[in-house]
Amino acid sequence: MSNFYEEKVLSVHHWTDSLFSFTATRDPSFRFLNGQFTMIGIEVEGRPLLRAYSMVSSSYDENLEFFSIKVANGPLTSRLQHLKVGDKLIVGRKATGTLVLDNLVPGKHLYLLGTGTGLAPFLSIIRDPETYERYEKVILVHGCRTVAELAYGDQITEVLPNDEYLGEAVREKLIYYPTVTREAFRNTGRITDLIQSYKIFEDIGLPPLDVEADRVMLCGSPAMIQETRALLDGRGFSEGSQAEAGHFVIEKAFVER
Ligand code: A2P
Repeated sequence: MSNFYEEKVLSVHHWTDSLFSFTATRDPSFRFLNGQFTMIGIEVEGRPLLRAYSMVSSSYDENLEFFSIKVANGPLTSRLQHLKVGDKLIVGRKATGTLVLDNLVPGKHLYLLGTGTGLAPFLSIIRDPETYERYEKVILVHGCRTVAELAYGDQITEVLPNDEYLGEAVREKLIYYPTVTREAFRNTGRITDLIQSYKIFEDIGLPPLDVEADRVMLCGSPAMIQETRALLDGRGFSEGSQAEAGHFVIEKAFVER
């Protein structure tokens, strides 16, 4: 059996010059946990060219969805950005990753902190009913340079709260906090600064980060992850993994090339 599925692209959506999303068919035998990633790509000169991508779609969705940057000279993304409906997409059979609910010890509030395409795994997690069963509040923070890069905002604020099954839990528990760093917006500043200044907690009406109550998932730029990790370490949070659940878990946003 091959290690890969051959899927078909169903839709492509360009958010900006540098960000796009696409959906593809999903083999019914492809299993994953919300928050996980797999290798995906296309065939180039007869060989698969693959990179790790988090699933945006959740484990119960019929189709697959991915969120990607476009890098002009990136071996994969320079090609992937030209995907068209009907094109072939290679999808790895084995999903993996650290950003899963079971890697966190129980808590009251779940903070999902993402920059750029680091939002992707959290879109899957905020559509998981289990997320709302385990936490009283789920706070999704998306940090980008510009407002145009705040992809999926409408889905989070308009579509999800009206979802037939999840709507009630989402309306009661999900707090969406988009923030930008390079232009004016209702929320501005880096995630790290918003935590350290307590600004974000004042804005959302929750107490500052506390290891007793709060659990954190991080996904995004290596610099953001490094600084936020230091900040959590300093507050007594321990990092979780498949081997042992902890107070926070980390995944870097994958595709930079
Ligand atoms: P900034 O504009 O101040 O660099 P990028 O597009 O470079 O991946 O960045 C995505 C977002 O992550 C931007 O808003 C960027 O802010 C922010 N960012 C970059 N480095 C850090 C960091 N060390 N801590 C927190 N946020 C960061």
